Amino acid sequence: MNPDHVEQLLAFLRFPSISTDPAHAPDVAACAGWLAGRLEAIGLNAAVHPTAGHPIVVARNEHVPGRRTVMIYGHYDVQPVDPLELWHTPPFEPRIENGVVFARGAADNKGQIFAHVTGIGETLRETGGLPVNLIVLVEGEEEIGSTHLEEFLTAHREELSCDVIAISDTGMLAPGVPTFTYGLRGIAALELRVTGPATDLHSGIYGGAVANPATALARIVASLHDADGRVAVPGFYDDVVPLETWEREAWARLPFGDAQILAVTGAPALFGEAGYTSLERVWARPTAEVNGLGGGFQGTGTKTVLPREAFAKLTFRLVPRQQPAAVMEKVSAHLRAVCPPGVQLEITCGHYGEPYATDPNLPDGLAAQRALQRAFPGRDVALIREGGSIPIVNTFKRVLGVETLLLGLALPDSKMHAPNENFPLANFEAGIRLNRAVLEELS
Ligand code: BES
Ligand code: ZN
Repeated sequence: MNPDHVEQLLAFLRFPSISTDPAHAPDVAACAGWLAGRLEAIGLNAAVHPTAGHPIVVARNEHVPGRRTVMIYGHYDVQPVDPLELWHTPPFEPRIENGVVFARGAADNKGQIFAHVTGIGETLRETGGLPVNLIVLVEGEEEIGSTHLEEFLTAHREELSCDVIAISDTGMLAPGVPTFTYGLRGIAALELRVTGPATDLHSGIYGGAVANPATALARIVASLHDADGRVAVPGFYDDVVPLETWEREAWARLPFGDAQILAVTGAPALFGEAGYTSLERVWARPTAEVNGLGGGFQGTGTKTVLPREAFAKLTFRLVPRQQPAAVMEKVSAHLRAVCPPGVQLEITCGHYGEPYATDPNLPDGLAAQRALQRAFPGRDVALIREGGSIPIVNTFKRVLGVETLLLGLALPDSKMHAPNENFPLANFEAGIRLNRAVLEELS
């Protein structure tokens, strides 16, 4: 592995570009500036475009009429790092151990997008040009729902027009298995706040006389599922496209399933909607997840308090034909209906993203599969769907009218969004090879 490439990757990983935290806005901006500098250094024309939120970095080569135009998309923003105490080393001081880089953003998405940047740089250095007209678009708000990217795409539709988009921001089925992802779940985020008395109260003096917001919140949250793991919101499954038999059969043959998921998650047992395998639950069934829950005393020891408020952060993963706005209406109606008496419930809707599905056997899909085959010689390409979301891919389709090829390089235990996120240098190298192959195959 070229030590310069690794050094550059580590420099990229040192920026704490946490998009959700306003305190990190200067770090996000610095990261964008650094990336644009790299893109210029490898020989592209790069610019940092400010938005009402975090900046968007766009780079391009000299476009030649008649050639195909390929966009490579990625994001330089990362998720928050907490719980910080569970990291073995600080998240923004990247460390390499046994050929694996540990840092926040190593897999999601800096390592993956930087493999493309490095691949482009190598091709330019060795051959003096690229086989396609290239647009590299790297945004800083993917982890918060790509809030300002749609407006940017609409405003720059001409300059950003392209034939196809390639993204490495998903996973590989297993180490060494080249993976083409043809579907992603959508997402809808929501925050709940349950409030009660005007202030925290002594739970001995007033407990029993006043409803406890934390108890009320627990009841509301518990109403989201039935005992079989199905989402209990009326109408939630109305628009869900059922799994096809061919898909269930194909997934059952994949070299990854319950045993691997159990091992990689470290959960005591698997659990989910009755009647489906784990892969089916994650890739093709919608879910309701509690991402955070709080209220009342969180410190060491005991404190007999009746908290004045409690909150929950929820996201719903959605599958084809479910519309985020429609689902959110049903969810809100349900939450209001089950809210117990004596408290007030506030619901704040957050970001939305539609589910995505493409046909892996369209000409560009087949080209991408050939590229994957070249990057991972001798291994069959796995065709999968995934449970994560990249909301902008539907916007690309709607605004730019193009399909997106999802060519992920992260591993099941890359710990995206979790402590000790990591990315093997071997995958970084494979991504560099993949970049060259995919630009050639798509040309
Ligand atoms: N890279 C992920 C999406 C992903 C991960 C897709 C693994 C497939 C497999 C992306 O950065 C991400 O985390 N997206 C968010 C979107 C949300 C915050 C709008 C997600 O899925 O939670
Ligand atoms: Zn992510």
